[in-house]
Amino acid sequence: MADDRFVLTDGQAHDLAYRYGTPLYIVSESGLRSRIKRWKSAFDSAWPGAEITFASKANSTLAVLAIAHQEGCLIDVASEGELRAALAAGVPASRCHLHGNNKSSAEIRFAVESGIGQIVVDNFEEIEVIAGLPEPRPEIIIRLAPGVEPKTNAKISTGQADTKFGFNINDLSAERALLRCLRLGLNVVGFHCHVGSQLLDPGAQISGGEIIAEFAARMKSSHGFEAKILNVGGGLGVRYTDNDEPMPVEDYCQAIATAVRQALEGSGLTPRLVQEPGRSIIAEAGVTLYRIGVVKTVPIKGGTRTYISVDGGLADNPRPALYGSRYEVRLITANNRPPGPDATFTVSGRHCETDRLFPDVQLPKNAQRGDLLQVLCTGAYNSVMASNYNRYARPATILVRTDGTSEMVQRPETWDEMFARETVPADLA
Ligand code: LLP
Repeated sequence: MADDRFVLTDGQAHDLAYRYGTPLYIVSESGLRSRIKRWKSAFDSAWPGAEITFASKANSTLAVLAIAHQEGCLIDVASEGELRAALAAGVPASRCHLHGNNKSSAEIRFAVESGIGQIVVDNFEEIEVIAGLPEPRPEIIIRLAPGVEPKTNAKISTGQADTKFGFNINDLSAERALLRCLRLGLNVVGFHCHVGSQLLDPGAQISGGEIIAEFAARMKSSHGFEAKILNVGGGLGVRYTDNDEPMPVEDYCQAIATAVRQALEGSGLTPRLVQEPGRSIIAEAGVTLYRIGVVKTVPIKGGTRTYISVDGGLADNPRPALYGSRYEVRLITANNRPPGPDATFTVSGRHCETDRLFPDVQLPKNAQRGDLLQVLCTGAYNSVMASNYNRYARPATILVRTDGTSEMVQRPETWDEMFARETVPADLA
């Protein structure tokens, strides 16, 4: 697939870093819009009437949600907070569905009172909670655990049988869940699965789609239940490094649609097919800028290692430490200095951890204090996973508008905000 990751020009990078400081998250509005358009048209041609849901956990910055909504996406929310973010961005609750393996009763009530489109039920307890709510009750989708093993980092695999998510099909929990909902008079509209994330080999997602479609066909023949929606989750991988080759969205949508169509053959079911990608919609539309501070060479076995320390790290991108994720890092020299030949560096953050943010990256040898580093493909699971570790303020997000102007859509945290939740007991003050 063509590499269409968003990249700032050197001039844009200098300008944004000067105006807004670093570290800085930057999202391209046209990159985001064009990805959504591509997904929607690919999926609609594979399955007419199919819908794309944006998994807001990947990036719930309000401006991003507003754009996704404007482009016609439904919004997947996984908590009351994510639902509140969607509402704050102007997305009606009826365009959202609520996920979660341990939703609280209060969370479910809030969602229903807000007019949530659907609740994706994940366990027997919440079926009873929903049945106890006054009418009108929400539409229900039943999350299934299809028992497939995706080829990805174990920490982001969810479709296997040994998982906290969803109802197992093989031990008959899924069928029991459907029958319980029907007995309680709940309005079940379909089934869902999500097998994992950052999948460069989409075999498991395709099997997942097939398995839930077979289940839907069986529920029709055994119980006369007609699924109107089949949601096959998200998970398509992105190009974090030049070596990553995600499957083109068009091929992927065709493959999923073909598998589901085959599994439904002869069932008489004609459900709406839904996918809920997060990463593959927003990751490549975002970059992060850091400024280089200390450059230090230390002796190691058989040679030396040069650390480049940047003014961010674990708190604004915990993914390398959590998942061993690799990124593409590019140098933007200050004062238009011509970059020299490449050498190997370890880029590290400023936090009190021995984490290595971007180990063994090739950067021009003459990288020095004051230069900028642009990290590609940070639009997903970066700003939403940021923390205040070491009491660093979370960075701003800049939206590069379609006309090329920039607008701060999330300002950096202030010191007042940092301490706003805390008090010192009077006798200690
Ligand atoms: N739907 C459900 C039910 C999910 O659990 C997820 C992701 C998605 C959709 C979207 O998956 P995507 O298309 O973005 O792969 N923090 C981790 C990723 C966790 C993903 C959890 N679920 C990371 O930084 O890689």
